[in-house]
Amino acid sequence: MKKEFSACYDLVVYQIYPRSFKDSNGDGIGDLPGVLSELDYIKSLGVNAIWLCPIYKSPQCDNGYDISDYRDIDPMYGTMADFERLLAAAHEKGIKVIMDLVANHTSSEHEWFRQARSSRENPYHDYYYWAEKPLTNWRAEFGGSAWEYNQATGEYYLHSFAVGQPDVNWTNPKVREEFKAIVDFWVEKGVDGFRCDVLDHISKDFKKGMRRNGPHLHEYIKELFGRDHLTNIYTVGEAETTKESILATCGQDRKELKSVFQFTHFFVGRKGKYTPAPHRLDDVKKILVGWQRFTAKHDLLYILLTDNHDRPWFNSRVGNDGALRFESATDIATMVFLLKGIPFVYEGQEIGCANSHFSTIDAFNDVECLGYYKEQKGLIDEQKLLEQINFGSRDNSRRPFAWDGSENHGFTSAPAPWLPYATRSDEINLEKDTAGEKSVCNYYRALFALRADREVLRRGEWQQLKRFKRNCFVYLRTLGEEKILVVCNFEKAQKITGLPEGKLLLSNAKRRLGANGEYAPYECAVYDLK
Ligand code: NOJ
Repeated sequence: MKKEFSACYDLVVYQIYPRSFKDSNGDGIGDLPGVLSELDYIKSLGVNAIWLCPIYKSPQCDNGYDISDYRDIDPMYGTMADFERLLAAAHEKGIKVIMDLVANHTSSEHEWFRQARSSRENPYHDYYYWAEKPLTNWRAEFGGSAWEYNQATGEYYLHSFAVGQPDVNWTNPKVREEFKAIVDFWVEKGVDGFRCDVLDHISKDFKKGMRRNGPHLHEYIKELFGRDHLTNIYTVGEAETTKESILATCGQDRKELKSVFQFTHFFVGRKGKYTPAPHRLDDVKKILVGWQRFTAKHDLLYILLTDNHDRPWFNSRVGNDGALRFESATDIATMVFLLKGIPFVYEGQEIGCANSHFSTIDAFNDVECLGYYKEQKGLIDEQKLLEQINFGSRDNSRRPFAWDGSENHGFTSAPAPWLPYATRSDEINLEKDTAGEKSVCNYYRALFALRADREVLRRGEWQQLKRFKRNCFVYLRTLGEEKILVVCNFEKAQKITGLPEGKLLLSNAKRRLGANGEYAPYECAVYDLK
């Protein structure tokens, strides 16, 4: 593996949703000085990179994924000087900073779009997609038609997401130059990488009905990131996750992206976004196994993740967020983060956060679930609809981080935060978690300390022990003489025998002299076989 790819195995990334992490100025919204004030906490987890969800100037119709100025910080989050202070302090502590790059669309308030929509002759007109009649019957991701009428030009523009997020026309070489310059602006400031929002959308084919993964996708990505001065910049794309397209985007000689998220295991336990479906952790395992084999075969980087700001909590959906919340959260973390790849932890995951249960739609802010609510209201029973929203809303994982059990959970000094706290914040908060014997957070610390300590867990080969097929995941990591055994039991208690014996390195239970024997539900253990 090329040096710049292999180096990525040392990364452990912590994803921050800035408006919900920590408020420093009492306006109820998290901000950059808030992040700065918690760098020691972040470092204490054993992570060495942060990914900041968009902090640029934005009208916030999609919480910052609608950018009106790519070279400025939204005043809600602070100033450019605050950003520079955060960047310098993070670097001093050995923490890299990854920015969110939103290249498929801008805000409708962006200067390009203000100009573009003013007349057909405006030089910025061609920065977006226009048509006298909708070219397709596409629905926007957040509801309604994907084409919106613009009075001044008598045309429709394309918005794959909200009306306030017009899609940028990447077929225009000027647009491509603009985004190259934006990337360079942040690289010159010293950032270390980019998480690229819906990057597969930047090439489309209207005639063939392709709203993403169009014929010029790879050419555009290469043009953006294949430049020599970006060799050591880390990139991770949110893009289509078929094997073919991952191979085409992340091959080491492609000069496109270092990695792409694979989200297929996010679909376990749900039918569509808002309806639960039967599941077992074995279903998740099968998917992870497939990706471990595929990425090993093609020498690709794999991203290890279960949570982000676009999904309700993974542990609430496919694990146990009731009596066995600690066991389940730590078991899932062990099974995923000791695979071969790059761990991404989403804020709150490390304290075992769980979904909320609200009885009113007023407790929600997410443009996506509000769009769904509007579409469904009156068609299904209100109670049922709210149940669906509670199950599927992205707000589940966007609620303010609960630092402690006080009234405002140590998040803000404002009487109320921008979005109500999670309904279980009195029970699930950092202070309470780390005060107890069963601390998810302390387990994460031990897990990442072990990963940092043992090269085999970062660069070693991965191999599943196939004899152990049902209701558990048993695998080996091997590097030269070093060998580590990972045993994760799933939902049901069972006896596991026939395992090689070794020295216990880590477990979420108070056991265990040897690897063989009874495993409680969600019990896991890691052994050194050397
Ligand atoms: C993916 C982002 O993660 C999500 O939060 C956003 O709404 C869409 N892309 C549109 O930018």
